[in-house]
Amino acid sequence: MTRKVYVFDTTLRDGEQTPGVSLSIDDKFEIAKALDALGVDIIEAGFPAASEGEFTAVKKIANAGLKAKVAALARLNKKDIDTTLSTGIKHIHVFIATSDIHLQYKLKKTRDEVLQIIKENIQYLKDKGVEIEYSAEDATRTEKDFLLKAFRVAAESGASTLDIADTVGIASPSLMKELVTMVKKEIPDVMVSVHVHNDLGLATANTLAAIEAGAEQFHGTVNGIGERAGNASIEEVVVGLKVLYGIETGINFQKIYETSKLVEKLTGVRIAKNKPIVGENAFGHESGIHTHGILNNPRTYEPISPEMVGRKRWFMAGKLSGSHGIAAQLNEMGIIVNDEQLTEIVKRVKSLGDAGKQVTDADLYAIAMSVTGSSPQKYLSLKGIVSVTGMNISPTTSIRMSFKEKDLESSSTGIGPVDASLKAIQKALEGVLKVNLIEYSIDAITGGSDSLAQVSVKVEDEEGHIASSTATGPDIVMTSVEAMIDGINKLLLKRVK
Ligand code: KIV
Ligand code: ZN
Repeated sequence: MTRKVYVFDTTLRDGEQTPGVSLSIDDKFEIAKALDALGVDIIEAGFPAASEGEFTAVKKIANAGLKAKVAALARLNKKDIDTTLSTGIKHIHVFIATSDIHLQYKLKKTRDEVLQIIKENIQYLKDKGVEIEYSAEDATRTEKDFLLKAFRVAAESGASTLDIADTVGIASPSLMKELVTMVKKEIPDVMVSVHVHNDLGLATANTLAAIEAGAEQFHGTVNGIGERAGNASIEEVVVGLKVLYGIETGINFQKIYETSKLVEKLTGVRIAKNKPIVGENAFGHESGIHTHGILNNPRTYEPISPEMVGRKRWFMAGKLSGSHGIAAQLNEMGIIVNDEQLTEIVKRVKSLGDAGKQVTDADLYAIAMSVTGSSPQKYLSLKGIVSVTGMNISPTTSIRMSFKEKDLESSSTGIGPVDASLKAIQKALEGVLKVNLIEYSIDAITGGSDSLAQVSVKVEDEEGHIASSTATGPDIVMTSVEAMIDGINKLLLKRVK
């Protein structure tokens, strides 16, 4: 029988504890729906006793009829517990620390007092019709006999899940294994869970080690966001479980990337380019040796296929590129070149790379156009635009574009005229192409209020194709629109192979 591991998602609680992150009720609700579609088993929607907004958000999520169980966090006191229960959640996650350092400097309680708090409050919860999960905060720095005592009291009082929290991310994989093995042996008939932080970069390894030792559930967040260096990344753990151990979770791998992007957008926490699974470079290749290998058999340099997690492989041209990779990149753009043209293109790419320049696909496209003497194919072009901004009105843009001879029109508001304009472009294309703007940057390249602006954009379609483009001009709205339309044209070239 295949083993299933349960995914307890804490993006909306521990993830929101990331310094600088504060989600509105609507943002939390949107993320909760995405987590439900992703297939997590439990959504920890927040900490209702912390604020009115948290209470309202948890209540809204708990009553939204999601497939996932909705949980919320509470300290072990009756006030927190009552507030939390009144949201309508089905799973309560209660915690109190067990390590001596927390008892002495934070709680100022003896071990016996802590055991009493666990007993009283979990017994109080026992007949309230909710599942009870108890986390021993700072469990990995707790003296083992006392940790077992605390867990025993929690289980005897009514907790059905015991969670070993590596609160400061200090555990090693072998310690995690030892603790899980100990709890499973000494306290049978409860679910054992782990909650791991990433302070030493070990969150995924520690979570996998705990599951190897028999833990049935893990806590994690999308993109690994969370306090300090974050929590275990759900995407890393579930992919690790599948490819290394053949262990299933309820996660729909095809939804991993879009969920990651949504969390990035709403929390404002940027995903590092080299982050496993969801980072921009996770399936990107530049060196000629790797690209050649990949083109012969992707398994040569890819541990998992990008499609497995809803992504696409991509190649970047640079000084380390070879002709195989560049020909494949051009081919993806729909550009066919002869051997002589390819040699010239590779030469120009390498000399740009040697000069320390990053060769984006926009640059490669321009080089190929110049070498082949072709003019760039444009499916989408601007026919008219009005953008207004001011005080006491939302900046608004109305746009008309031509797409393959058809006129597309739309209007949108935004937080500024650039935002309104780029949203109007995306809106006009609805039904034709779903475009996500995944990167936008603007630099002034001369001084003064008449500076030239250089705008770079990176756009992505729903099939995972990515294209970047740069435009330079004196008007930031028009330059942004130009870069966006150019990027979309490059995306369209990739689609119409
Ligand atoms: O890191 C931690 O210990 C927690 C607890 C509330 C489980 O987030
Ligand atoms: Zn935590």
